[in-house]
Amino acid sequence: MSAMSAKLFNWLQAAPFYMDLHRQAVQLLPIGDQKSWIDVGCGPGLVTRFAAQHGYHALGIDPSVASIAMATVIAENLAQNPTQFKAQFRVADLSELTQLASNKLGAADVISACSLLAVLPDRAQALMQLWAAVKPNGYLLIVEPSSQMRLRNAWSCLHQIPKKRRCALLLWSWARQNNIVDESIFQRLNHAEIRTYSLLFGLVRAWVIRKEKRL
Ligand SMILES: C[S@@+](CC[C@H](N)C(=O)[O-])C[C@H]1O[C@@H](n2cnc3c(N)ncnc32)[C@H](O)[C@@H]1O
Repeated sequence: MSAMSAKLFNWLQAAPFYMDLHRQAVQLLPIGDQKSWIDVGCGPGLVTRFAAQHGYHALGIDPSVASIAMATVIAENLAQNPTQFKAQFRVADLSELTQLASNKLGAADVISACSLLAVLPDRAQALMQLWAAVKPNGYLLIVEPSSQMRLRNAWSCLHQIPKKRRCALLLWSWARQNNIVDESIFQRLNHAEIRTYSLLFGLVRAWVIRKEKRL
């Protein structure tokens, strides 16, 4: 991802509606109690920071050097406030996740992938890589726009979201219509439980998928 795209994502991640829906998604998971969370394709780090605030030892990874540099600066600035927990970031891509998970950190209690699957060429394979890094009894959190994420639906929700940067919703819906992740791929996972949530007036969905205690 170029420095320009990283700036665009940073702008989007600071839109109140975008922050709210991702905060809600993170809060679908149990309180962290210093358990581990890896946010894959973290961009400028919004979900990683929310995971840290939710009590996790949170690591964001992304192959984009510009995004990771931005995420690191934002997290360091916020960490100067003693009420904020510190998130960590590293340049790495999904294919390195298994290695990361089996080395220093061990597999993570929570793996998240927000708006990641849709940008990857082989979504089913990516899902299996994410799932492999989830600890037994841990969780995979996926957040993706739903089939409702269309320009006209976004337009009709506009008056219900905070004014600041709400045009970002139009841009997001325009960019994502006709590029929706088919949720049937989640059924291939050997899961103990799958919960689905509707966010942002149904324009976005979150899946919380729990792994069996022992496989
Ligand atoms: C659409 S952005 C989403 C950013 C952030 N998760 C969010 O929800 O705002 C997709 C992100 O995935 C990253 N990405 C692309 N290919 C990747 C890969 N193979 N492994 C991990 N991240 C990847 C991009 O660099 C980009 O930051």
